[in-house]
Amino acid sequence: GRVLHVVGTRPNFVKAAPVVAALRTAGCDQVLVHTGQHYDERMSDVFFRQLGLPEPDTDLGVGSGSHARQTADLLVALETELAARAPDLVVVYGDVNSTLAAALVAAKLEMPLAHVEAGLRSFDMAMPEEVNRRLVDQLAELLFATSADAVGHLAREGVDVGRVHLVGNPMIDTLIGHLDHFDPAAARAAHGLPERYAVVTLHRPANVDDPEAVRAAARALTEAARHLDLAVPLHPRGRQALSEAGLAGAPGVHLLDPLGYVEFMSLVRGAAAVITDSGGVQEETTVLGVPCLTLRTTTERPVTVTHGTNRLVTHAELVPALGKVLAGGQPPPAEGPPLWDGHAGPRIADVVTRWLDHHA
Ligand code: UD1
Ligand code: UDP
Repeated sequence: GRVLHVVGTRPNFVKAAPVVAALRTAGCDQVLVHTGQHYDERMSDVFFRQLGLPEPDTDLGVGSGSHARQTADLLVALETELAARAPDLVVVYGDVNSTLAAALVAAKLEMPLAHVEAGLRSFDMAMPEEVNRRLVDQLAELLFATSADAVGHLAREGVDVGRVHLVGNPMIDTLIGHLDHFDPAAARAAHGLPERYAVVTLHRPANVDDPEAVRAAARALTEAARHLDLAVPLHPRGRQALSEAGLAGAPGVHLLDPLGYVEFMSLVRGAAAVITDSGGVQEETTVLGVPCLTLRTTTERPVTVTHGTNRLVTHAELVPALGKVLAGGQPPPAEGPPLWDGHAGPRIADVVTRWLDHHA
C-alpha cells in the first residue's frame, strides 16, 4: 500500500515528521508532497533539516496569494500530482489551506483520506482554519484525534465514530523527541537576552491584519516589555504591521526573524512566560510547563487550559495576567493531557498499516 502525505506549512512539518518516521519503521511505501505554501528557508527548509523529514518527492511551489487564488492554485497542482501518484491513502495535517485543498482533490479523485488532528473546533467561523477543519473532517475516512473533546465534536457533526481514532498528539512526539537538543542558555545568549524573558509569537489575521488590533497588541507588548525582555520571532504575516505600530525599537523588545524549530523551542523552554496566538505553541507550552498567555477569544485546544498552562487573555488583560505569572502564580498541572506522551506517530502508523492491509 502506498501512502501520500501532503504538507505545506510550518505546523504541518512539525506534525508530519513523527508520522512519516513511524510509517517508515513499519516498512510502508511513502510519498511526501510539499505544496510550497510556505517557502522561505526559515519557514520551510530549516524544518526538513532539523526534524529528519525526507526531502519532498515533489515541491509544487504554490506560494502565497489571496485565499481564493492560493486555494485554486493548490487544487490544480494537487490534482495533477495525486492523479499521477495514484496512492492508496492520502494523509493531511492540521487546518491550513494546503490541508483543505488536498482533502478536496482526494475526495474528487475518490482517493481515501486520513486527517491528522481531526475534530478541533474553535466555533469561530471567522477563522479560516475553522472552515478548513470542518470541511476536511467531512471528507475523511480515517480521523486521528489528539484529545477526547475532538472525538465528541466529530460525533456531534455526524461523523461515524468508527472512523475516529484517539491517538494523542504528533506535535508532542516531535517535542519529546528533540528535548535533548534544546539549549535554552545558548539560545538566550545568541539573542542577547537576560536570564528572565518572555517569548512572543503573533500571526493570526485577527491580531495582525486588523489595524486596531495591531495597535492594541503593540501597545500591550510595549508595556509588557517594561516588566521583562521580550523575544519576538515574527512570522512574515504581520511583521511590518507590528513593527510600524511601534514594536520596532521599543525598549526590551527583541524583534527576530522566524526561528528554526530547535532554536525556537530552546527559547520557549527557558522562558518565564510565552505570549502567543499560535495553535501549536499552546500545546508545546502545556507539555513544557511554561505559562502561556494566548491573545485570542477562543481556543480549539481547550485541554491546554484544563490540563495545561494556557490562559486566554484580551489585550487589556495581558499585562496584569503576565504580572501574576511572574509573581509565581499557579504551578503547572502534574499530568499533561492524556496520550500526549511521544507515541502518537506509532499509534497512527498502526491504524494506517492495518487499514492498508484491508483496503489496499
Ligand atoms: C498559514 C495558515 C495558518 C497557520 C500558519 C502557520 C492558512 C489559511 N493559514 O498562515 O493557519 O497558523 O500558516 O505558520 O493556511 N509568507 C512569506 N514566506 C513564506 C510564507 C508566507 O513571506 O514562506 C508571507 C506572504 O506574504 C504571505 C503571508 O506570509 O502572503 C501569509 O502566508 P499564508 O500561507 O497565506 O498564510 P499564513 O499566514 O502563513
Ligand atoms: N515555530 C518555530 N519557529 C518560530 C515559530 C514557531 O519553529 O519562530 C514552530 C513551533 O513548534 C510551532 C510551529 O512552528 O508550534 C507552528 O507554529 P505556527 O504558530 O506558525 O502555526 P499554528 O500552530 O498557529 O498553526
